[in-house]
Amino acid sequence: MTLRLGDTAPDFVQESSAGTIHFHAWLGESWGVLFSHPADFTPVCTTELGLTAKLKDEFAARNVKAIALSVDPLDSHHEWIKDINETQHTVVNFPILADADRKVSELYDMIHPNANATLTVRSLFIIDPAKKVRLIITYPASTGRNFNEVLRVIDSLQLTEYHKVATPGNWQAGDDVVIVPSLQDPEEIARRFPKGHTVIKPYLRLTPQPDKR
Ligand code: BEZ
Repeated sequence: MTLRLGDTAPDFVQESSAGTIHFHAWLGESWGVLFSHPADFTPVCTTELGLTAKLKDEFAARNVKAIALSVDPLDSHHEWIKDINETQHTVVNFPILADADRKVSELYDMIHPNANATLTVRSLFIIDPAKKVRLIITYPASTGRNFNEVLRVIDSLQLTEYHKVATPGNWQAGDDVVIVPSLQDPEEIARRFPKGHTVIKPYLRLTPQPDKR
């Protein structure tokens, strides 16, 4: 199944290292990061899952739950988690789906047969509390993802969702943001952005990040 931005993230029931996951119910009112990796006991994946564990507080501060997936079985995940904890100096604190029957991989199109016939690529989906897919990225097996970039995108998505601003290229938390073009009512602009804004062009209006003091 091909997923696109704005689609409803498919629901599923699958086993994981933290018990059976009923995906939509497990997400609840949270945002979600669902990401696949090619295989257990591989070096890049070991670092990625360690990084995710270390970002627990950052994800929690953003009301985000992380969940990983590979097509390895549950007993393999449990053995590998010991290695991740040991080598990455952390404790895996999120579920790893055991998708040996490829149920979730196929729902989310995580197996790209011309890259590898049987293993998942590095797919990553950000899902909002309405269960809509808000970001899709796909990396090859040999390139570990930048999880600081994942946090940056979550910050941007949440600013758009809750404050009607977008974020410019290379934006980092704390930089000025862009008032979305659809927002034209001067009273609403004044109310939403009491710190003021700068009109560079009618379509390019900058304002300090609204949720920062
Ligand atoms: C890794 O996670 O290290 C990896 C997995 C598959 C291919 C290449 C690297």
